[in-house]
Amino acid sequence: MNKQISTPPPVAPTHSDQDNHLWLQCWREQDTDFHQTEVNPLLSRFWPGLGLARGSRVFVPLCGKSLDMLWLAGQGHEVIGIELSPVAVHDFFHDNGLQPDKSQVGPFTLWRHGNLSILCGDYFALDKSHLGPFDTVYDRAALTALPENIRTLYVAQLERLVPKAATVFLLTTEDAIEGATLAQAVGVDTEIAGLYSAGFEIDLAYVESVFEPDPQASGTVRRVEFKVYRLSGKAKPPG
Ligand SMILES: C[S@@+](CC[C@H](N)C(=O)[O-])C[C@H]1O[C@@H](n2cnc3c(N)ncnc32)[C@H](O)[C@@H]1O
Repeated sequence: MNKQISTPPPVAPTHSDQDNHLWLQCWREQDTDFHQTEVNPLLSRFWPGLGLARGSRVFVPLCGKSLDMLWLAGQGHEVIGIELSPVAVHDFFHDNGLQPDKSQVGPFTLWRHGNLSILCGDYFALDKSHLGPFDTVYDRAALTALPENIRTLYVAQLERLVPKAATVFLLTTEDAIEGATLAQAVGVDTEIAGLYSAGFEIDLAYVESVFEPDPQASGTVRRVEFKVYRLSGKAKPPG
């Protein structure tokens, strides 16, 4: 009998246990150069322009132990982060002198103090019922922390979680394009456009070009562009 050889279907990228393992290890070994010891200046400068009411809820995916959450809480927001590493979550509350209550929400441990809450677990396992309602998303080094082939999954998950009228406040650090035209340098990055334009209107609110030490080649500098995006959810079809 002839054996039928069929072509295997293309394999969709999946978020892997290996990625999670590496992040957990980073935190255990305190290899966390991405952590900022000051509130992000672009957050404090451009967030007020969103005109959000005090008390509105802000979702912070892949939050680490970012001090930006404290700043957002200080603006009167209810902050809800999600973070994989219990070391990061513990350090966030401990370093800021806060004593959180802990409870179980589905597969997540919820750490909570006042208007600051962090769900400890995997972003990709979240559903709306774990998170509750929120009005705005704050993303700094969340999308861009993930491998490029996983970013579509990150955005697809965000679209599942985000209420239709929500705004995503997205900060990116983009490598400057060699020989870029002015329009490219100050425009919406093609990857950001590709990832978000189906679900969101994209407004590039600010671009700042900066020379900074190149982590890949010590003793040299590279030019990067810090960008502030405001993404407004497009109306979703009912269902
Ligand atoms: C580059 S750091 C940025 C942290 C924070 N946004 C900041 O600005 O400092 C990315 C964070 O995402 C967390 N992370 C990675 N994958 C995750 C996942 N699948 N679910 C939840 N958190 C995750 C990592 O542990 C790490 O703390």
